[in-house]
Amino acid sequence: MQINILAIESSCDDTSISLVQNGVILSNITANQEIHIKYGGVVPESASRAHMENLLPVVKASLHKSTMRLSDLQCIAVTKGPGLLGSLIVGVSFAKGLAMGLNLPLITVNHLEAHVASLLIDRENVQYPFLCMTVSGGHTQLVIVDENLNMKIIGQTIDDAAGEAFDKIGKLLGLPYPAGPHIDKLSELGEATFSFPISKMSEYNYSFSGLKTSVLYFLKKELEKNPEFISQNLNNLCRSVQDTIIESLLRKAKMAMIDHGIKTIGIAGGVSANRGLRSKLTNMADENQWNVLIPKFEYCTDNAAMIGFLAHKKYQKNQFANIDFTPLARYPIGAQ
Ligand code: KG4
Ligand code: ZN
Repeated sequence: MQINILAIESSCDDTSISLVQNGVILSNITANQEIHIKYGGVVPESASRAHMENLLPVVKASLHKSTMRLSDLQCIAVTKGPGLLGSLIVGVSFAKGLAMGLNLPLITVNHLEAHVASLLIDRENVQYPFLCMTVSGGHTQLVIVDENLNMKIIGQTIDDAAGEAFDKIGKLLGLPYPAGPHIDKLSELGEATFSFPISKMSEYNYSFSGLKTSVLYFLKKELEKNPEFISQNLNNLCRSVQDTIIESLLRKAKMAMIDHGIKTIGIAGGVSANRGLRSKLTNMADENQWNVLIPKFEYCTDNAAMIGFLAHKKYQKNQFANIDFTPLARYPIGAQ
């Protein structure tokens, strides 16, 4: 029997709809909200409004691409959290309306578990347990995943997420929001000529707010001497910051892999699109003879494909939601 799932992701500022057939992604269409660029960050109320405006056109486009109709669906899946509450409410209300109107069951998905599961899309013969480093705008976590997709967080950031560090430092450098992809691009043209400190946190935890502060003071000092310092050194500044973040991320991941005797490592979340991180992770895995799981670019940043993919696994286990559930701004991995 074909299981066709329409999946909805609206936890932050991307409105995404995916059609997933028996775990295979047929379409995955995302509307990014450019409205936030001029404010240098996501404005929650504008995000909710934009989700409301974007949802229907994105649903139509995604159905069209998959050549499916609403009458072909067996299930509706939606992100329950974590995320911006207003954004989640728009997606969840839409999902409930659709499920009630079409008389279909609903499946709720944890956004962070979906990022981890995105490593399994289009992939067979994955060796368990594996370690997933989830690096996004809101989270930085090291998660051990077993063959039943049980996930255990063994380390995380105590302050800013890795993506947040890219974005906040990028803002100091005058780059548009979100700065991560810009820093990635400019880094390719630069050298790591400046050195910034790596926070020494206990165990497998991270901290990135110190790096932001150290870049802030460094820039202040240099700009006093030379007002053109940033524009004259932008590529090298980007490369230096990017290499520091990557070094900090990979150090702890390596420690966790060795301590736990794990042989497969993956990255997920928006920052996993970073080319420097992808290539340094691949080198580290090669040196240690580990398998490496890197998602396709389209499954790195927020997307509904990962929601539909994990929902299909939950469908097979009959893990349906009661229609009266409410979205959760805070929703840790593993919570019900
Ligand atoms: O997973 P995601 O789309 O949304 C959250 O759940 O947070 O991640 C967005 C984050 C942003 O901080 C953005 O700057 C970062 O991912 N990002 C990148 C790159 N592409 C997106 N950071 C570094 N390099 C990239 N290429
Ligand atoms: Zn995300």
